[in-house]
Amino acid sequence: MRRRRSSGDHPPLTSSTAAAALFLSLFLPTAGAFTVTVSDSGAPSALVDAPQTGFSMKRDGGRTDPKEQKAVYEIMKATGNEWATTIPDVCKERWHGIECMPDKDQTYHVVSLSFGALSDDTAFPTCDPDRSFLSPALAALPHIRALFFYRCFAGNPQPLPPFLGRLAPTLQSLVLRDNAHVGPIPPELGNLTRLRVLDLHANRLDSAIPASLASGLSSLRSLDLSANRLSGPLPDLPTDSLNVLDLSNNLLAGPIPPSIGSARSLIKMDLSRNRLTGPIPDTLSGITSLALLDLSYNRLSGPLPDTLTTGPVSLRTLILKSNPMAGTQIPPQGFSRLKNLTVLVLSDAGLTGSIPDSLGRLPALRVLHLDRNRLNGTIPGSLRRLRDLKELRLNDNRLVGPIPFDREMVWRMGRKLRLANNSALCCRPDDEGGRDRDADPEETASFLLGIGYCDPEGVPGSGTATATEHFLSSDGPSPSEESTSSLPVSGGRRIGRRVLVWNWDDP
Ligand SMILES: *[C@@H]1O[C@H](CO)[C@@H](O)[C@H](O)[C@H]1NC(C)=O
Ligand SMILES: *[C@@H]1O[C@H](CO)[C@@H](O)[C@H](O)[C@H]1NC(C)=O
Ligand SMILES: *[C@@H]1O[C@H](CO)[C@@H](O)[C@H](O)[C@H]1NC(C)=O
Ligand SMILES: *[C@@H]1O[C@H](CO)[C@@H](O)[C@H](O)[C@H]1NC(C)=O
Repeated sequence: MRRRRSSGDHPPLTSSTAAAALFLSLFLPTAGAFTVTVSDSGAPSALVDAPQTGFSMKRDGGRTDPKEQKAVYEIMKATGNEWATTIPDVCKERWHGIECMPDKDQTYHVVSLSFGALSDDTAFPTCDPDRSFLSPALAALPHIRALFFYRCFAGNPQPLPPFLGRLAPTLQSLVLRDNAHVGPIPPELGNLTRLRVLDLHANRLDSAIPASLASGLSSLRSLDLSANRLSGPLPDLPTDSLNVLDLSNNLLAGPIPPSIGSARSLIKMDLSRNRLTGPIPDTLSGITSLALLDLSYNRLSGPLPDTLTTGPVSLRTLILKSNPMAGTQIPPQGFSRLKNLTVLVLSDAGLTGSIPDSLGRLPALRVLHLDRNRLNGTIPGSLRRLRDLKELRLNDNRLVGPIPFDREMVWRMGRKLRLANNSALCCRPDDEGGRDRDADPEETASFLLGIGYCDPEGVPGSGTATATEHFLSSDGPSPSEESTSSLPVSGGRRIGRRVLVWNWDDP
């Protein structure tokens, strides 16, 4: 067996390396989903199962602490890995999924244990799902820093044992993902004061979030309790060091406490898919490092706090979709200070009023969803300046007037440009959008997805141009359903002559 050993000297993880690890997990979602353990050397490993750098235990030098070896046998038996109990020295003949470190007397201590098939090429021991359990022997590993159990107990759902709170104070990372754990989060977890990563994603935990987590876990950098059935209010969370907070997909209710604004190191905050009510606290603008804010699918009310539109200037992704913020308007200066904003999703948020020009001053914007609101007025010509825009949804609003995009922009977005079900959008063959005046009008119209020409005499948006009362769009793979409901009978002849219907006959 090839032995891998990690470096014997192990400086404490510095905040900058931890931040780098978390940064990876944010912006390389596929590679980083499990950027959760801290490798023995103190350097963050990009993946939990990435090859460890290190050295081999010298043939005769050192042995595993006998008490810890016994505990490891118990833990391995409890996961259906009896094979491990025949290994004479677990740190010497180690497998992928156990990490050990020597002390100055060459006694080896277990610092990390990992279980579960993360991917096809991961070699962590897997658990026998029908009889595995978390062995109390875990509390007999005084040097343990990281525990990782992934899909281990699915056939034998069990509560999280309170003895987890008695794991060694050296523990920095506790990951129990996709394990079908039931019942409450034990308040005892708040005793793990050195914990940097707590990840209980995708279980069936159904308590409130214990207040002890807030008071006890002062070193926490990443808290992921997403995809459970947690209820009750959002507690005041440990805030100073927290980089990642993911409580999405639970049943959390009540307001977002304004104190959340004191989590000044947050990079990602995902509270989506809960039952949160009340306004969005304007203290969020104080989180100067925040890159992702997702509050979608809650019951939050308006208005949008002014401060959110001016900061945090670090925001890259802002998702407020599906909240009943009825009557909320996008402020005239709308988000224009958020120069790094790439994704802005405000669909189905009860927005009224018009789309401000200032949205065209977000140079990094790639995705803009304003669909399913009650936005009126015209589409601002400034949106033409969004050269990186890949996806624009303005469908299901009350917009009128000319579509200000040129042919290149329409082509670029293709089916990701959605304009269906507005009041009276139309296309101007001679607008300043760079389209070729001499181009065949039928062909030009085809670029605009079947939307009729503006009536030359009609004031844009006056609604007097029969041919522009309704239009078709590329919304969805086949527009035929929409087409039948929105094709105006009165203007039919004119539309028939002048408007090509995108995909009308697409097989
Ligand atoms: C651990 O936490 C629980 C509940 O939060 C508390 O009652 C208990 O005294 C703590 N135990 C230790 C050893 O600190
Ligand atoms: C915007 O992004 C750039 C490039 O990624 C980065 O250097 C800059 O610090 C960001 N600005 C803010 C305010 O976060
Ligand atoms: C748009 O709607 C707002 C309120 O919902 C209204 O005050 C305004 O007059 C409307 N503007 C247009 C151009 O219809
Ligand atoms: C058109 O959009 C409005 C919302 O602005 C929505 O209520 C209505 O159901 C939509 N109509 C169709 C046919 O989708």
